[in-house]
Amino acid sequence: MMSIMKPTRNLLFALCSMLVLGFLYYSSGKLHLHVWGQKPHKDKEATLSPAGNAYAEPEAETVVSVGRVVGSVFDKQGFLMKLDGKLPPELEYKYGNLSEGACKPGYVAAKMTSIYPKFVKPASMFLDLNFKRLKNVNNYLPPFGFKTQENIIEVILSATKDYGLSPELNSLPCRRCVIVGNGGILSNKSLGSRIDEYDIIVRLNEAPVSGFDKDVGSKTTMRITYPEGAIQNPSRYEKDSLFVFSAFKPQDFRWLRQMIFKDNQRGVDGFWKSVAHQVPREPSEMRILNPFFIQEASFRFIGLPHNNGLMGKGNIPTLGAVAITMALHNCDEVAVAGFGYDMSTPHAPLHYYEKVKMSAIKESWTHNISKEKEFLRKLVKAGVITDLTNGILAPPGV
Ligand SMILES: *[C@@H]1O[C@H](CO)[C@@H](O)[C@H](O)[C@H]1NC(C)=O
Ligand SMILES: *[C@@H]1O[C@H](CO)[C@@H](O)[C@H](O)[C@H]1NC(C)=O
Ligand SMILES: *[C@@H]1O[C@H](CO)[C@@H](O)[C@H](O)[C@H]1NC(C)=O
Repeated sequence: MMSIMKPTRNLLFALCSMLVLGFLYYSSGKLHLHVWGQKPHKDKEATLSPAGNAYAEPEAETVVSVGRVVGSVFDKQGFLMKLDGKLPPELEYKYGNLSEGACKPGYVAAKMTSIYPKFVKPASMFLDLNFKRLKNVNNYLPPFGFKTQENIIEVILSATKDYGLSPELNSLPCRRCVIVGNGGILSNKSLGSRIDEYDIIVRLNEAPVSGFDKDVGSKTTMRITYPEGAIQNPSRYEKDSLFVFSAFKPQDFRWLRQMIFKDNQRGVDGFWKSVAHQVPREPSEMRILNPFFIQEASFRFIGLPHNNGLMGKGNIPTLGAVAITMALHNCDEVAVAGFGYDMSTPHAPLHYYEKVKMSAIKESWTHNISKEKEFLRKLVKAGVITDLTNGILAPPGV
C-alpha cells in the first residue's frame, strides 16, 4: 500500500504544480515553459515583432521556469528575479576552473542567458552591405532601426568599405571589453592602467582621454558617437580608433554622409545643439552601429515604452546602455567604468571632464535613468558584467 501511496502523493504534487502553472498561463496570456533545463527557444525573431504588428511583448509576458527549482520566476523583462553572482552548475563546470584572470571564452553570453533565457547572441556590431536583411531592425524607424534611411546607408557603406573590427581583434580567441562611461565617479580612482589592459576599449561621445589618462586610460578602440556628441575640435580626435556612429534621428545619417564625403558646405538642421563640421577620420575608420542594440536595450532589457516603435517620452536608452548591449553580444567578458549617477548628491560632477552638476540630468525627456539603472543593476548583481567603479550597485544616498 505504502509503495503505491508515495508515487500517488508525488503525482498529486506534480498535478498541483501543473495547475498553478496552468493558472499562470491563463493569467499571463503567454508562457514559456523551460522544462528540466531544456534550452530556451531561439525566439527573438518571433517575439520582437516590427512596429505595427500586434505587439504583446515584453509587457504581457510572464516567463516561468520549471526545472531544478520549481517555479523560479522571471520579472516583467524576462530576467531571473533572484540574482546572485553564483555560476549555474553547467557554467561552473566550464569556467570555475580557469586560472584567475584568464579570459573566459563565451562567458558573457552564457551568463546572460542563465539570467535572461531569451538572449540570443548573434548580432553584428556594425552594419555591413547585407544590412537590409536584418529582420529585427528593417521595419523600425531610427533610432530603433533604419527604415527610410536605406539609400543613404548604402551610399555611406560603399564609401567606408570596412564593416568590422581590425584583423588583430577579430582573431583573438577571447575578447575582453570595457565600456568607459563618462561619469564623475571615474575621477581620482587611478583606473587608467587597468582600463588599458582590455582588448576593446569603448568610449562615448566627446569624453576626453588626453589629460585624464591616469583615471580613464589612454587607449581607445572605438568611440561611439551621435552628431551632437561628436568631438568638435578636430585636433582632439585620437589616432587609431574607430569612429562608430549611432543614429538617433533620420537627419543623423545625413550628417554622417557629410562627414564622410567632407561636404561641410551644406548645413544640416534639426540638431538640439551645435554639431561637429568635420570628423578627421578616413571613411575606412568609420562604422555604423547596428541599431538593434538601441531597440533591444530600450524595449527588451530596460522595458521602456514601445510607443509603436517610435521615439517617444522616456524611451531612448543612454548611449552607455546601448554600448553595453552591443558588448553583451560581441565580447567574451565585459567590464564597465564610469557608470552610475547618485541622484542624492546633485552637486557632484556629472562627467569626469567638466563641471556640469549631476542635477543637470534630472529633467530628461528622452531617457529614463532610474529604469535604466535597474537593468544595469541586474547585470552587475548577477556578475554578467564587472563594474570597475562600483557606481551601479551603490545605494542612492551614499
Ligand atoms: C581543475 O584544474 C586543476 C589544475 O589545473 C586540475 O587538476 C583539475 O583536474 C581541474 N578540475 C576539473 C573539474 O577540470
Ligand atoms: C580629484 O582630486 C583633485 C586633486 O586632489 C581635486 O581637486 C578634485 O576635487 C578631486 N575630484 C573629485 C571628483 O573628487
Ligand atoms: C520612468 O519609468 C517609470 C516606471 O515605468 C515611470 O513611472 C516614469 O514616469 C518614467 N520616467 C520618464 C522620464 O519617462
